[in-house]
Amino acid sequence: IAKKRSDYQQPDFLISHVDMVFHLDIQKTRVITTCQFSRNGEHNRPLVLDGESITLIKVVLNDNLISDYDVNSEQLTIPTTEDEFTLCVETVINPEANKTLEGLYFSAGAYCTQCEAEGFRKITYFLDRPDVLAKYDVTIYADKARYPHLLSNGNQIDKGQLDDGRHWVKWQDPFNKPSYLFALVAGDFDLLTDNFMTQSGRNVALELYVDKGALDKGHHAIASLKKAMAWDEQVFGLEYDLDIYMVVAVDFFNMGAMENKGLNVFNSKFVLADAESATDDDFFNIEAVIGHEYFHNWTGNRVTCRDWFQLSLKEGLTVFRDQQFSADMSSPVFNRIKNVQIIREHQFAEDASAMAHPIRPEEVIEMNNFYTVTVYDKGAEVIRMMHTLLGADGFRKGMDLYFARFDGQAVTCDDFVQAMQDATGIDLSQFRLWYSQSGTPKVTVSDEFDLSTGRYTLTFGQMTPPTADQKTKQALHIPFRFELLDEQGVAISDDSVPELKAKMIELTQDVHSVSVSGLNAKPTPSLLHNFSAPVKVDYAYTHQQLSSIILYSGDEFARWDASQSLYSRCIHNLATAPDSPDNALFDSMLDSIGGVFALADTNPALAAAMLSIPSFETLSQQVDEIQVEALYHAQRSVRHLIATALSDKWLTLYNNQVVGAYQYKADDVDKRRLRNLSLSYLVQGDATQASELLHAQFSQADNMTDSLGALKAAQYGKLEQFDQLMVQFEERWRHDPLVLDKWFALHANMERSDILARLPLLLSHEKFSLDNPNRVRSVLGSFAFYNVLGFHAIDGSGYKFLADYLLKLNSVNPQVAARVITPLTQWQKFDPKRQELMRYQLARIADCKELSKDLIEKVSKSLNYT
Ligand code: ARG
Ligand code: ZN
Repeated sequence: IAKKRSDYQQPDFLISHVDMVFHLDIQKTRVITTCQFSRNGEHNRPLVLDGESITLIKVVLNDNLISDYDVNSEQLTIPTTEDEFTLCVETVINPEANKTLEGLYFSAGAYCTQCEAEGFRKITYFLDRPDVLAKYDVTIYADKARYPHLLSNGNQIDKGQLDDGRHWVKWQDPFNKPSYLFALVAGDFDLLTDNFMTQSGRNVALELYVDKGALDKGHHAIASLKKAMAWDEQVFGLEYDLDIYMVVAVDFFNMGAMENKGLNVFNSKFVLADAESATDDDFFNIEAVIGHEYFHNWTGNRVTCRDWFQLSLKEGLTVFRDQQFSADMSSPVFNRIKNVQIIREHQFAEDASAMAHPIRPEEVIEMNNFYTVTVYDKGAEVIRMMHTLLGADGFRKGMDLYFARFDGQAVTCDDFVQAMQDATGIDLSQFRLWYSQSGTPKVTVSDEFDLSTGRYTLTFGQMTPPTADQKTKQALHIPFRFELLDEQGVAISDDSVPELKAKMIELTQDVHSVSVSGLNAKPTPSLLHNFSAPVKVDYAYTHQQLSSIILYSGDEFARWDASQSLYSRCIHNLATAPDSPDNALFDSMLDSIGGVFALADTNPALAAAMLSIPSFETLSQQVDEIQVEALYHAQRSVRHLIATALSDKWLTLYNNQVVGAYQYKADDVDKRRLRNLSLSYLVQGDATQASELLHAQFSQADNMTDSLGALKAAQYGKLEQFDQLMVQFEERWRHDPLVLDKWFALHANMERSDILARLPLLLSHEKFSLDNPNRVRSVLGSFAFYNVLGFHAIDGSGYKFLADYLLKLNSVNPQVAARVITPLTQWQKFDPKRQELMRYQLARIADCKELSKDLIEKVSKSLNYT
């Protein structure tokens, strides 16, 4: 059942035009699809169309009703002989019964579609593959009172009324597109409108459709959209190409959002926000996701993927673009840190698991399983490395050439790299290995200083350990940024050493070295500036060297990174030798961190990041075997130490962050972040003293960032206070689904001994529903990904809880089930006892009779891993 990248074949037929008519009905929607086909190349193979979970009513070939076709649960085969023909297929589907939220579904009173990757085949029989591009006309019929808005891609070209209360609207999309970009929405919404004038003078109508009553929560999304449109013009010279851009927010959605041509569909979580109900992070994410989907209009829609193995062509590139956009809208270093945390916490974990794959996978059973942190986020890192190697101007030239060559086509990752290479003359042949080789490369750095000659040599070795999918690895082309600091913390410059001049060495072989002469002391190498490659670095820093990077490095990212290394050392030291901690190490950590408080005024975003210790997930990727309790408690002790040893500083820092009425703007966001960080340390230091501060903040806050900040800090204090505040919070917010998700999540990842007894209560909460992916993620996802002690309980109850639930979710929404199972598939790094318990639950799931393809792929891979 697995498909291989190497098996790619051109489509046997092409489609130039699609005409679709929808008669919407909750249980019996009729779909009439008429396509113009032409044979592609010389062959006499039959026409094989994809189709799933749909009922075939009739097939009309060139105006003749036919019956000599074959239909099974996945395909409709027509033994045609002509080279050009018109085929009309009528199908019936049941949107209400569709809980997979793929294809056409009905939820919360509205119809909505999700077709990427292979959902269009649940709507009609079709050549459902991204290299079949066609123009679409779509006519939608539905009851006018209940569904006043009938939307599809492109421009509205006609509409009318029927006598029976129904109305219809006809849409036409002038651009060729693959079926995965098709969308249809029908419902009763509130509509927020605005407009944007492109640089060449096209006036674009912007329309945001939200739930009735939620209009006030749409302003930030619209403002973000306008920023994204302006940014893409400025940075890439890319303009929007239709007269209308629609965004619809829905509550039931499997992922973040979808870039359907001219009609984006969004998880309401990435659209709706106001001060009271959304945090600064929500505001940030909305801007990022709105940007991401908008940027897809060029990187994804105008130029799309030839086949799904090329997914990173559009996703890696578009994530890179949204990261650059976010960085330009706020603090570049803070953004970079966020990107890197995703790589270190989740992508490195994926590499270490049975699901390891290159950013361009070789083999796929269920495509939905490959919308991964590897394809997306490591994919973005690979694009970023090209940006680094080519420079911003070279990269822009490459992008221009890419669009000049491929606009309107479905292409490959190789085509992209070739455009980058041809536009700049820079040789990217070895660089392409990043697309085919999986795993996390390790760069080992060592150095040598000869006092008598003043010669310093820095040696870089690269090695990628084998992964589940690939045993042997080759040397990669790695742009590695670094600098050398002298004893005063000043960067050493020596123009005769090209790598120093460029502040970068390009590693292409197993070992490289760089030498500098004329030094009178051994310098400190400050390594992997701005995380110039998605690798792990190993260099035996002294504590003093880390401190000096924290204070002096010219690269803000490197300063943060050094702070994290110092914390990590302390935590690992305590985890492995709890009774004999390395006092000198702890002193030097407290000393350096004490110094960071001074940054709070000048660079608050960096200060906040440097004052935060590494997550359990990050720490986990630094060891070969995770000792759950030891590591967890060590992390907590270090947090406690920082809280108590620096308690005066935390209090001052807390009190210094004075912010007026809520606004989402950089200065205020930084202040709130520092304030909430301080509060959580204060609670961990002296909970009694802090509980008043906490209470005051919770009750007086005019915004969600501060009230949720207080609530989260309360987790570290007295349980009764936390429970009380949670009750108040629930009462206040029970009617706001997005806020209630936060409440569910907080419950699910709360560290408490009775967590496993409480989870079933959460699942039987009247507001919990298995059909709602946001809810499932906030309970199950939070628990499995982040409740370290609960999920990894040594009696196996956490694993069993997840598995029980996944067995139910399997038949409802396999896509979401396959996401939430991830932590269970990452058993490889745990102790033998836990490995066994985790594998036992995986085996239970594998035994399920009607397991979805989504889960089969993940479960079987992780059980077969050796
Ligand atoms: N293309 C969408 C985006 O990145 C995500 C689609 C995810 N699809 C899926 N089947 N998981 O914005
Ligand atoms: Zn995307």
